Amino acid sequence: MNRFTAAAFAAVLACSAAQAQGVDPLAPTGKWTAYSAGRAPTPPMGWNSWNAFASAVDEEKVLGSAKVIVDSGLASKGYVYINLDDGWAAKRRMPDGHLIVRTDKFPSAVTRKQKTPSFKPFTDKLHAMGLKAGIYSDMGRNTCAQAWSTTPEHLPKGSVEEREVGLHDYIDQDIALYFREWGFDYIKVDGCGLRDFGPNSPKVKAGEARILTPILDLGAISRTDVPAVKDLFRRVGAAIVRNNPDGDFVYSLCIWGAANVRAWAKDMGNVSRTSDDISPAWGRLMVNYDSAVHRALYAHPGSWNDPDMLHIGAGDFDANHLTEARSHFALWAMMNAPLLIGADLPTMPASLMEVLGNADIIALNQDAAGNQATVAHDSSDLQILVKTLGNGDKAVAVFNRGWDPMDVNLQATRMNLRDDAPVEMTDLWTKKQITFTKETKLRVAPRETAIFRARGTRALADGLYLSEQPGKVNPAVDGVTRPIPDPGIFRTAYGWGGTRSPGDRPQYAGWGGARADSAPYGQTLQIARKTYASGIGILANSRLEVRNEGYRRFTAKIGVDDSATDKTHPVTFTVYGDGKRLAESRPLKWGMPADPIEADVAGIKVIELVARSAANENEALSVTWGEAALTDRQPR
Ligand code: GAL
Repeated sequence: MNRFTAAAFAAVLACSAAQAQGVDPLAPTGKWTAYSAGRAPTPPMGWNSWNAFASAVDEEKVLGSAKVIVDSGLASKGYVYINLDDGWAAKRRMPDGHLIVRTDKFPSAVTRKQKTPSFKPFTDKLHAMGLKAGIYSDMGRNTCAQAWSTTPEHLPKGSVEEREVGLHDYIDQDIALYFREWGFDYIKVDGCGLRDFGPNSPKVKAGEARILTPILDLGAISRTDVPAVKDLFRRVGAAIVRNNPDGDFVYSLCIWGAANVRAWAKDMGNVSRTSDDISPAWGRLMVNYDSAVHRALYAHPGSWNDPDMLHIGAGDFDANHLTEARSHFALWAMMNAPLLIGADLPTMPASLMEVLGNADIIALNQDAAGNQATVAHDSSDLQILVKTLGNGDKAVAVFNRGWDPMDVNLQATRMNLRDDAPVEMTDLWTKKQITFTKETKLRVAPRETAIFRARGTRALADGLYLSEQPGKVNPAVDGVTRPIPDPGIFRTAYGWGGTRSPGDRPQYAGWGGARADSAPYGQTLQIARKTYASGIGILANSRLEVRNEGYRRFTAKIGVDDSATDKTHPVTFTVYGDGKRLAESRPLKWGMPADPIEADVAGIKVIELVARSAANENEALSVTWGEAALTDRQPR
């Protein structure tokens, strides 16, 4: 390159970098951008080795549970993924970097044909049983068990390099091995390698591991390099796509709600952990549940919130705690969580097999519309979750979080059903039918979740509120500029630090994210003193993508929410259809009454709702798309 072209080239580069920086994230794209690669149109179901066996996993144990899954009929109900977690790796062979399976634990990996052990016979076996196979790795050089396990016999052995069984320097090589050579269908990518191997790590000090400067800190979002973490997950995702030409994979992110992942995983993978690990204790269940329950807008067909695997069969969820075990299952089903059994199934009591096999509840989780339940009544004692199903039915769960039995008035209007027409409900545990008009009384025991499928006359005769279809609403830009830990998540005394620690402090970023039927910080939607039972609450400088399947009319009542602390900056609301501007509001400030906005969306595939303002970053500028709805459905 001569000097002139080099200078011109540099100028072009500088210019495109500036342009790249200047890209307006609120500009309409005309596209639905949430993750849709892989095979997770509904939440994955199956089994995972970790909760039952931790690193002491072996082939006999895995196949023992896999056999029960098939023989008991659970497989035919959808539980098909059999996932190995941490503990399968012997070492990384040097110098070629090939991963070696623990053949003492997985004897079928010793094959006569190949000198190098292979998982292919194992995955072949699972496939022949009509099942699918999952594997575990870590985004760093080492896994979580390598950081935390107290049973060294289960850890990889050899030189420091040989013990580096994580993806870090081997993304392409390992992903090709897992999917192309070994035939796995699912991968869980953990994150301890990005967090636990700093200079003070005991393993580093003991000379067992190399330093990998931490870029992830679960306790401190500001100590986390979010772009770097995202970039690694993007790179692994691209390698997975490349190595699965048939697209038959599930990509599971496991960084426990760190790095603001609760906001961006929906763009990056099929399932993503929203909190630290579950344990068989009620308090931990509540942490995990709370970390996902208000995030309905961040889950869609193809990308699901993962409050962690089921712990039914142990501790507070064993056969002596049927109420708790049923609640766990019902809540996970309503939240569209992956249903991954974490128990040694040959020893599972029949009463708990029945819980896992409740086909009516599984059907809610696997409903094709993919709407995570939204919270229709929210208090520390009681929550009512409502989920809109593909055929228009409603699933409703009444969860008593408290210590006393509660008398609950369940109203038809809570489910967006008319209160002057009968509602028919089936109790999905007892199969009892209830018919009522307006409201019905339920008595719910402490820790109980009453769960029903309901049918009535919809409040909107010819349409749906957007908050009834969170699976079709994607907060592409949610307006959160500085992620803050969510203080609304249950904090248990039985956290990992135990009662000798300063406690379980807020740590999961995502506070102020977009919410269905609620303002971003949890208040009732309200514009100039008028409340809205239905709507989307989001911060200003946000862009929502909405999938439109055949509706002709979009309507909403818009304004700055009364909960906003920024009372000065006006917000302009714009509705786009397939990238073109359809309607725009005048600038609306705090205190001004709501303006109606509407747009003809006939034939439009993706609607975008943009709220733009010259906001002050130190203030919360919450906006409300009140009663936002799609109506006037085209006859099919
Ligand atoms: C944790 C993860 C668990 C399990 C474990 C394995 O980070 O959250 O689900 O995979 O690592 O060591």
